[in-house]
Amino acid sequence: MNAPATLEPSPVPTPAERAAAPRRARILAVTSGKGGVGKTFVSANLAAALARRGQKVLVLDADLGLANLDVVLNLHPKITLHDVFTGKATLDQALLPAPGGFHVLLAGSGLVEYSRLTPEVRDKLLEVIGQVAPRFDVVLLDTGAGISDVVLYTVSLADEVLVVVTPEPTAMTDAYATVKVLAAQQQRRELNVVVNQAPRGGDGRGVAAQLQQVIDRFVVPAVGAKVTLKLLGDVPLDAAVREAVKKRQLVVETMPGTAAAQALSALAGKLVG
Ligand SMILES: Nc1ncnc2c1ncn2[C@@H]1O[C@H](COP(=O)(O)OP(=O)(O)O)[C@@H](O)[C@H]1O
Ligand SMILES: [Mg+2]
Repeated sequence: MNAPATLEPSPVPTPAERAAAPRRARILAVTSGKGGVGKTFVSANLAAALARRGQKVLVLDADLGLANLDVVLNLHPKITLHDVFTGKATLDQALLPAPGGFHVLLAGSGLVEYSRLTPEVRDKLLEVIGQVAPRFDVVLLDTGAGISDVVLYTVSLADEVLVVVTPEPTAMTDAYATVKVLAAQQQRRELNVVVNQAPRGGDGRGVAAQLQQVIDRFVVPAVGAKVTLKLLGDVPLDAAVREAVKKRQLVVETMPGTAAAQALSALAGKLVG
């Protein structure tokens, strides 16, 4: 009797294997050098725009000590990530639906103990992200600004980085510093950039080109590799944004015709093709 032919393993997953494999979200860290550039605004509205494109999206408020995603979304959570961290609540109790068709994990504000990277914060954040990743298509981590260890650790948990910057020299200098640290410490070689609060059309390209120039000159020789900024797009400085934030609304939901809303919708399209 002939020995059964050895089956070559298939080079690609079979449809059955694909269906059985746990889904895993694309994890994107929305970060910046300078504060107040629009990370939370971009995270929330990008999430809504991605949800409109059929993506299952979670935004995690990773600005753990000075959280304000809840304010932008007009949510008044009784349970936050901190309750999950301390074991007072389960992850499912903290996962809340947000206006805009996505989910959120909110944090608290004025909590000094969460402004530093303690072993507890490290472990819990890692655990929570591990638990949510199979349940969503996209997870946005809305981080704090700067290069503190808690921000850098949060960014290190993401597959992709989205740096929010404005055309102001201070924001650009700080964005450069962020990229430099991420390239050196995390071996990031490609980073997405969103130029927010752009006064004129086309500002994004100029800002990204200027940043790229400084990176080529100082970061590339230091890390010994190419570091590329990918301009995802620009979001115009739009009075409608201030108005929406004041009313605690999402521009993509309530003012879809505005320049800012359309730019955010285009960003979502670029992210998910
Ligand atoms: N594209 C924009 N046009 C006008 N104002 C904006 C724009 N983006 C952000 N802002 C204003 O900047 C403020 C700070 O944004 P926020 O998302 O809280 O920044 P961050 O999370 O980076 O600290 C918002 O409350 C809003 O008033
Ligand atoms: Mg913020």
